Amino acid sequence: MAAPVAAPVAASGATPREERVRAALSGRPLVLVGLMGAGKSTVGRRLAMRLGLPFRDADTEIEEAAGMSIPDIFEIYGEAHFRDGERRVIDRLLREGRIVLATGGGAFMDDATRRAVAASGVSVWLKADLDTLMRRVRKRSTRPLLQNADPEGTMRALMERRYPVYATADVVVESHDGAHEEVVEAVVAALEAHLATETGDAP
Ligand code: S3P
Repeated sequence: MAAPVAAPVAASGATPREERVRAALSGRPLVLVGLMGAGKSTVGRRLAMRLGLPFRDADTEIEEAAGMSIPDIFEIYGEAHFRDGERRVIDRLLREGRIVLATGGGAFMDDATRRAVAASGVSVWLKADLDTLMRRVRKRSTRPLLQNADPEGTMRALMERRYPVYATADVVVESHDGAHEEVVEAVVAALEAHLATETGDAP
């Protein structure tokens, strides 16, 4: 028996809701923010596919621009140097307009980056609890900030410091440990509601 179809699909493959979100973005970048392990890259890649937009990963772009890995940038040049590069790369990516952009966890803490995102894009905070974040980040050892004796304590401190700032994003979506597609679905729904308030289409 054929699987039931969830929603009518437009010629592009996007559902009407996804078409509405893409149209309401009207060329602005969609910027995912949140802590390490929140799922910004995985959700961002799927979201981009659903919306028919190019996906960019700021961390990958920084590594390409520097010609070295993030752990190497931290080790050789230090975090301040990394943050300078991060600010410049994100500024360049924001100018591309129609993209879904996954940012590194610290990017939105930079005042200039936050202002640039607010001026040109729509921001989405993928909010996750400590257990979810720790379960995910334990799988990789590529995050310099967590290479210490107490990564969980570090994560907790980062949550305290960063969550009030992430909370200023345009849209907040819980990123739980279930299927990524569910989070993608929740982001599309939250975006639709937010973008409707901009145009006065909200019920
Ligand atoms: C960082 C998060 C990392 C990366 C760098 C610093 C942070 O990106 O940019 O290690 O300050 O939280 P992810 O959030 O994609 O892991």
